[in-house]
Order: sequence, then structure tokens, then C-alpha cells
Amino acid sequence: MKFGYFDDQRREYVITQPDTPLPWINYLGCQAYFGIISNTAGGYSFYRDARLRRLTRYRYNNVPFDLGGRYIYLRDNQSNQFWSPSWQPTRHQLERYECRHGMGYSIIGSEYQGVEARTRYLVPLDENLEIWQLTVTNHRPAPAKLSVFSSVEFCLWDAQDDSANFQRNFSTGQVEIEDEVIYHKTEYRERRDHFAYFACSAKIAGFDTQREPFLGPYRGWDSPLALERGESANSVAHGWAPIASHHVKLDLKPGESKQIVFVLGYHENPKEQKFDPPDSQTVNKKSVKAVIAKYRNPASADAAFEQLRQYWDSLLRICQVETPCVHTNRMVNIWNAYQCMATFNISRSASFYESGIGRGLGFRDSNQDLLGFVHMVPSRARERILDIAATQLPSGGAYHQYQPLTKRGNNDIGGNFNDDPHWLILGVAAYLKETGDWSILEEPVPYDNEPGSEQPLYEHLQRSFQYTLARLGPHGLPLIGRADWNDCLNLNCFSDTPGQSFQTTTNKEGKVAESVFIAGLFCLAGRELAEITCRRPCPDGKEKLQSPCSSAAKLANGYLAEVARMEEAICQHGWDGEWFLRAYDDFGGKVGSKECEEGKIFIETQGFCTLAGAGLDNGMARKALASVRQLLATEHGIVLQQPAYSRYYLELGEISSYPPGYKENAGIFCHNNPWVMIGEARVGNGDSAFDYYSLINPSKREEISEIHRCEPYVYAQMIAGKDAPTYGEAKNSWLTGTAAWNYFAITQWILGIRTSYDGLEIAPVVPKSWKGFKATRKFRGVTYHVDVERVGPGNNVALTVDGVVTAGDVVAPPPEGVRQVAVKVTLS
Ligand code: BGC
Ligand code: NOJ
Repeated sequence: MKFGYFDDQRREYVITQPDTPLPWINYLGCQAYFGIISNTAGGYSFYRDARLRRLTRYRYNNVPFDLGGRYIYLRDNQSNQFWSPSWQPTRHQLERYECRHGMGYSIIGSEYQGVEARTRYLVPLDENLEIWQLTVTNHRPAPAKLSVFSSVEFCLWDAQDDSANFQRNFSTGQVEIEDEVIYHKTEYRERRDHFAYFACSAKIAGFDTQREPFLGPYRGWDSPLALERGESANSVAHGWAPIASHHVKLDLKPGESKQIVFVLGYHENPKEQKFDPPDSQTVNKKSVKAVIAKYRNPASADAAFEQLRQYWDSLLRICQVETPCVHTNRMVNIWNAYQCMATFNISRSASFYESGIGRGLGFRDSNQDLLGFVHMVPSRARERILDIAATQLPSGGAYHQYQPLTKRGNNDIGGNFNDDPHWLILGVAAYLKETGDWSILEEPVPYDNEPGSEQPLYEHLQRSFQYTLARLGPHGLPLIGRADWNDCLNLNCFSDTPGQSFQTTTNKEGKVAESVFIAGLFCLAGRELAEITCRRPCPDGKEKLQSPCSSAAKLANGYLAEVARMEEAICQHGWDGEWFLRAYDDFGGKVGSKECEEGKIFIETQGFCTLAGAGLDNGMARKALASVRQLLATEHGIVLQQPAYSRYYLELGEISSYPPGYKENAGIFCHNNPWVMIGEARVGNGDSAFDYYSLINPSKREEISEIHRCEPYVYAQMIAGKDAPTYGEAKNSWLTGTAAWNYFAITQWILGIRTSYDGLEIAPVVPKSWKGFKATRKFRGVTYHVDVERVGPGNNVALTVDGVVTAGDVVAPPPEGVRQVAVKVTLS
């Protein structure tokens, strides 16, 4: 069953009924100002940091789930009826409801008793504000006398404090009202130099800035007293709950349309110019007024929309494909790339499942997010890499997370997740391959943001590698620390006290438990580091090396020797006969072995070891993949492990805290399904790789929206596994490493259009039934038009580049000045 449809032409998903199984959301903003918006206009906004600079309030765990947001109410002043054109919060039965989620904007429209209202919500590029552009049309044969009421509820900036510290908060709220603008200035009188505002383009008949007089006692957003009465209370907030609401009277002749623009924004003043006059407590509005004036004008709002469209057009154009599969095309060309931007921007901090107060930017997560983002805006990827690296600790270890506003490591979560440092190597390698910008390696970057500790980024990578070497366990495999990629495999935690955090509790010394996953990751990262070392231009900048100087070669060989030793350890101690082991626990017992009662086989090591190339030559990789097919693959995707843990295991931690089939306990964790896809591609099995890709492709799952329940246009972190009563149900949509890894797997490994240091590599491993496919890929300033034709059943590539037969599978950069290259590929 579907709740809407894809409009690929306009790059929109169109939701046709408001009561979707879960809120189906979109993100507004892609730089510094962000908003979450649901299909019923629910959600909230923040500037840079969802926890520390929250503009509007949102109550998680609300009933219904999707309540509170950017609500506009309409009132018929002849019948005194009122309703919400976005369905929530009044939930009147609407005629012709439609929500179009697009690239950075959402349009929510409906008709009710002959009055059509349509609101386009968007954040203009390079601005810290959002526009709600409302168009109301009277389709009645008679004149309509209407009122429009806007509404937002302000958050007192720190979202965590806002939802907890009421004894203070109920007394701090302050606003100003001037012309048609409501300014929210709580705490501006003291240490803040920022404020929020909500402006309206039309003359207002009234306003409200205090929640209670607007809603009325004991009333909710579904029945505001102001709407019942047809007039605002003109309330001025002192403490309690500051809101902003405008009342605009709208008389429309039959057939007539009118537009009102609302602007909600964030503004900073220089510290010494906060007040106007300077000795007053009145907000200095000089600089903000110009911004407000600009965007209250519908022409500016239209222009901002047009710019946003062009921006997305140019980003998406970088990689476009035309395959025989519509779901692949739609995800690669539009939605998966778009989701990669969201995960890059927001990491795992703010969605309808991430409250924005729990997590900042993850070290591991943000590095992986780069895989799906770096081609879009490399300059931002560069900045991100340097920010992440600056939170690395001198040991080479890392803070697990950092706050985007302060860019400082988050002490509450700490470090010792022993996989973290290696992701930095992979993130940097992806950046270098995409851009060829070797200068990043020489950027001085501090450790733990400590001034004076700066070393070239390259040294950070070396320390990442050394970190593991200094922490090997009894089998020569990496010690796991708090956890590795699987945050819930807490082998040193041993928590038996309710409420303790699995993420930070450590009751064991950590000298025994080892991770075969980190071993695989180490091999991949080590090979990347060796290659980077060989190719790194001499730091003095004099000479760009074709072949490495002897010291670099020696260093690289040293890294490769460690990788070889690790591979040996994997084969000796990390192989269980039919698949890769997962780990050794604190007693030296095996995790993910046929000897275990439960949790005999895990996806992570099968995926990551094969992806990293372990066991490709000795048959282990194929065997491991066959075991995945046999024991882990399901009709909804590959589950994380089997059998699911049926009880809590003290020595395993959070993984066994989830009921069977959910999350890390045998859920289909969509993040690591692509590792198996890449593994399958590496052994040349295009049918299997693509089959796994299709199983979790959201667009393909649109047909079963009543089972999947999450948005059909983006990946969710998890789909309930076969042990779960709700098998097939997705959860935690949007913010997941699934976005970047699926994008990476399909574009670089299955379609095989892969960035490399020497040029664009083209090595497709696609289904046998495909007759071919086409792709355009912009890479280092050149657009490659790739036309793949299958002439035989295998994966052998023959290239003709601009008419010239070319050996190998790498298309070298064309001569200076050439911007378009035609690549004909035959697969046999
Ligand atoms: C979740 C993990 C998550 C971790 C860190 C756990 O409860 O199951 O998926 O990575 O928390 O926040
Ligand atoms: C979600 C976390 O963000 C990610 O870092 C982790 O790898 C997975 N959960 C698996 O636990």
C-alpha cells in the first residue's frame, strides 16, 4: 500500500494523505540554519547545533507523535469555522491534501470548503532564516472573508535546558514586537548576542507572543482560543512560554489568490552593538531589518526558491545514472544523494528519532558520511575532515563525538571506541581520491583542539594507525575498547545496574576482548595509508613525486607488513571454518562462532573483511559470503546476526538488551548491508550484490509502505529482522550511515564508477540480465559520459576513451582544457 508517489521530474515525493504510518519528514536548509518538517508541517528549527541553538520548541515523545511545528490556521469569518491547511493540528477532514517534499523545501497544500491554501517552506541559500510562502485562493462562487493565524513556539535556545529547567525558564522569556515582526530575545539581556524573529509580509490585525492567551487555558494547538474568537489577544510574553503568532485578515473575491510571506530567522549582532539605543535594553534591529525586508517580498522568496533548485540541480548533476532499474535511478540520481547531504550536515543529531540533545557529530559517523558526500561539495568535506581531526587525541584515539557549535570533543561520551581512528584514514582517502587535493595532508591540525599541538593532518593518520598497533590483544587482533562499529557490542562493560550507560560504563580492564571487525578495518585503512604515504607529494612542495622517495616507500612497506600480519591473524584466529568470527570476549571466548549457542554468525566481519579484500585469494571471502546468503539474508535485507540473543548476556552488553529482531540484536541494520554488497562485487557476483541492494532500496519498498512504515524516499537505520513480531518494519529513518554506504556501494562498486588516484576507474559488477547502463560523472572538473554495454556474462572491462581503445579500467585525466570525455565500456 502506498501513501503517495514519486514525482521524479520535479524531484519530489508527493504524499497524498496526511495520516502516514509515521511522520514522513524532510530537511530544510543545508548549510547553517536547519529545519525538520513533517508532512503535516510538524517539526522545528535550529542554527548549526540542534541542542545549543534551538529556535523553536518541539516535544519529543508527544501524542500524537507529530505535534508542534510551523502551523498556519485559516478561519472562515462568516461561518466562524477554523482549520489547518496542513491537517495538523486541527485535523479537519481536508479536500485534496498534498505534501510535496523536495530538495530542501516542502510544499504543503490542501483545500477546504472551497478555500485552497498552499505553503512553500524553504531556507534560502546562505541565509539563516526560513520562508513560509502562503498562497490562499478562493474557489467559491462568493467572496470569502478569512483570517490567517501563524504560529511558532520558541525554544529558550538550549534544548536540553529548555525541557528540564522550568523553575528558571518560566521567568526568563522576553520578546519585542515592532511593526509586523515578533522578536524573541530571551537571555539577550545577558550573555547572548543572538535573537530570533518571526515576520509577516501583510498588515496584521493582531498578534500573540504568550502561549497561554493564544491557546486559552487547558487547550492545545488543535483548538486555540484566538481562533475560536477570531482575534488575537495581543499578548506580550514575560516569562512562561514565548510564542509568535500573527493575525492577518484576508478578503478574497471569487477566484482571487493572495500571498503572505512569513519569515522565521536567526540573527546575531556584534557584542558591542547589541542594543539600540546603546544604553537601552532594546534589541538593535538595524542589520536584521534589511534581511526581513528582503524576504518579506514574494519576489525574493521566489528567487530564493529558484536558486535553491539550481543549487540542487548542480549538485545532483555530478553523478547521474540511467540503469534498467527505476528504483536505482531514482535513489542514485535524487534521494540517496540528497539523504547523504542530510547525514553530512546533521550527523545523527536531529531527526524525529534523534532528539537533537543526545548526540553531536560522531567521529566514526561523520567520516563515513563523507563517502556519500565528498563529490558534492568537496570544500565542505575538507573543512569537516579538519574539524574532526582536531578532536583526535594525542594517543591517536578520538572523542567519540563533538558538538558542531563549539567543535570540541564531547566529554560525556569520551573515547576508547577502538575503531574510531581508522575511519579518519578512510574519510581522508575518499577526499583525496575525489579531489586530488594533496595539500590537505599538510594542514596543521591540533590534537584535542589544544593550541600549540598542531601537526600535519598526515601525522594524524599515522597516529590513527599506530593507535591499534599499540592495542593488540592475546591473538594479535585489535582490542575492542568500549566498542567498535557496533556500539552495542560492549565486551568490557559488564553492567548489571539499571540505567547505567552501555556506552560509557567500563568494568573490565579491556586487555582481552578483541575485535575481528577492527582487524578488517585496520587492513583496509592500512592499505589506504600505505598508498597515501607513497603518493604524498614531498612536504617541501618542491617535487610532486611520481614514485615515492625511499623513506616514504619504507614507511609504506612497514604499514603493509603490519596489514599482512593482521591478515594472517584474521585467517588464523578470526576464521571459524565457514565464516569470519566476530570477536573474543573478556574471557577469551568466541563471539560469532558456531560454538556459540546464540549469535553464531555476524554480518559485520563477513561484510567488512570481504570488502577489505581479506580472504579473496584463499576462498574465505566466498565462503563467508555464502554463509551470509544461507544464514543471514532475508526477504527484507540481511540481519545483523543469528541466532538472535534471547536473553541478556552480561559479557556482551547492549546488543543483548534489545528484544530479538530489533536494532543490533538481529535487526536488519541497513548500514552494513552495503558492506556485503561490496564484498559480493569484489568476488564478481553482480547478481547477488544487486539483489541485496534492491532488498533495502526504499523506493522499491514503497509498495509495502504499510509494513515498512518509514519514508519511502530515504533509508532508515533499521528494518526489524525475522525474529521480530514486526518483521519488515523500518525505524529511525534519515540519519544513518546507511545513506553514504549504499550510495558508495551502488555507484562505486556495483555500477563500478570509482574514484581513484590515477583517474576514474570503471569496473561495473552488475546483474547478468542487464544489457548495459549509462552514467555521467563529473570528476575533477571533467564530465565523463559513460556508456556500458554488456556483450558477455562476466565483469571484464574493455574501454574506449574518446574513440581510443585504452588498456585497463582506469580513465586517466584528459589533456588540459578537455572538459567532456566519452567512455565506451564493453563488459564481457
Ligand atoms: C544504539 C546504537 C547507537 C548507540 C549510541 C545504542 O542504543 O543501539 O545504534 O549507535 O546507542 O548512541
Ligand atoms: C548508530 C551509530 O551512529 C553508529 O556509529 C554505529 O556504528 C551504529 N549505530 C551501530 O551500532
